[in-house]
Amino acid sequence: MNILITGGAGFIGSQVVRLFLEIFPKSHIYNLDALTYAGNLENLSDVETSSNYTFIKGDINDAPFLMNLFSKYQFDKVIHLAAESHVDRSIKDPIAFVQTNVIGTLNLLNAAKSIWKDDYSSKLFYHISTDEVYGTLGETGLFTENTSYDPNSPYAASKASSDHFVRAYGETYGLPYIISNCSNNYGPNQFPEKLIPLFINNIIEHKPLPVYGDGNYTRDWLFVKDHAFAIALIFEKGKLKETYNIGGFNEWKNIDLVKLLCDIMDEKLSRKRDSSKSLITYVKDRPGHDKRYAIDATKIEKELGWKPSVTFEEGLSLTVDWYLANDQWLKNVTSGSYQEYYKKMYS
Ligand code: NAD
Ligand code: DAU
Repeated sequence: MNILITGGAGFIGSQVVRLFLEIFPKSHIYNLDALTYAGNLENLSDVETSSNYTFIKGDINDAPFLMNLFSKYQFDKVIHLAAESHVDRSIKDPIAFVQTNVIGTLNLLNAAKSIWKDDYSSKLFYHISTDEVYGTLGETGLFTENTSYDPNSPYAASKASSDHFVRAYGETYGLPYIISNCSNNYGPNQFPEKLIPLFINNIIEHKPLPVYGDGNYTRDWLFVKDHAFAIALIFEKGKLKETYNIGGFNEWKNIDLVKLLCDIMDEKLSRKRDSSKSLITYVKDRPGHDKRYAIDATKIEKELGWKPSVTFEEGLSLTVDWYLANDQWLKNVTSGSYQEYYKKMYS
């Protein structure tokens, strides 16, 4: 099999590339990534010389380039992760999200459709999406695969739109697709603009921990490797035209998560108990902030036998260990454009 993974230099994509190289040694893995601020080839330095791996630097917004690429490599399967992925950036610049997440996805769908020429035997377009397409929950209830789409942020709206186009290509042109919608991931190699790595970095540097609003927003956290395992399982055993929700069965209010992280960091850095908690600073809320996300992952559990493999406490501890052991990675990604973004967001 020739497998194209888009966005493979990003946080989740790099875990997926690494896992696929391991479990499909007879397949060739092509990683297409534009290397935006969030893409980093250092995330894959341990596997970059694998004989069944090829990195291709390229932009999914470039339709003719994609057409040539599909023609040259004759991909059998596509796993599409490339996206603008940060809600706060989407609030500041929605157009970039429509461009990459909607138009970029359409460009990929068109290239697949045109090169596969309606002979779809053993072909697959697997689209990786998010629980944010479902909008927000109240105090109770869970997102199921049948929950109506109700996106609130420009990021969520762009991902919802891309999901609709994937489904429409399945219905209209018969393109074989699967979609999965996952909850919040955490783990190694996550760019430090998202909550957990941002706060780890700020604690290391004794900087304020900017908690939005009252901190009582709830997210359902999943260790990134468990997401990658779920993707591999769906890739191998998922049913075409189906959606699978993936989640951690692990809801945390932001403020409780931050306090747990502070305790773990104090212990690992041998700092005085509660010293990191003193950095907690309540700041202006995110506009349109979704109150609560929580996934019902019963379908993937029952049909495919998937379950998260680590508890949150284990995963968070592994994550902190990784960031402490990879301070050079952190320094490299927090230099340059990240500093400008940080000033714009928090000063
Ligand atoms: P990320 O921002 O870390 O990585 C995105 C990758 O896509 C980067 O390597 C970037 O260089 C690449 N990319 C961006 N624009 C591109 C373009 N125009 N052409 C080619 N490559 C481009 O994101 P992530 O957190 O790893 O998320 C990956 C996917 O999973 C996204 O589709 C996201 O919506 C989805 N998702 C993420 C989470 C999460 O918690 N992080 C949860 C559910 C779903
Ligand atoms: O639910 C899946 C989604 O999770 C993915 O689709 C997105 O790609 C991913 O970025 C993530 O979105 P969130 O907006 O939930 O993640 P983020 O880490 O930005 O924020 C998590 C929560 O923490 C959210 O309620 C906002 C809050 N927050 C975040 C930051 C960056 C703060 O309170 N302070 C902060 O500085």
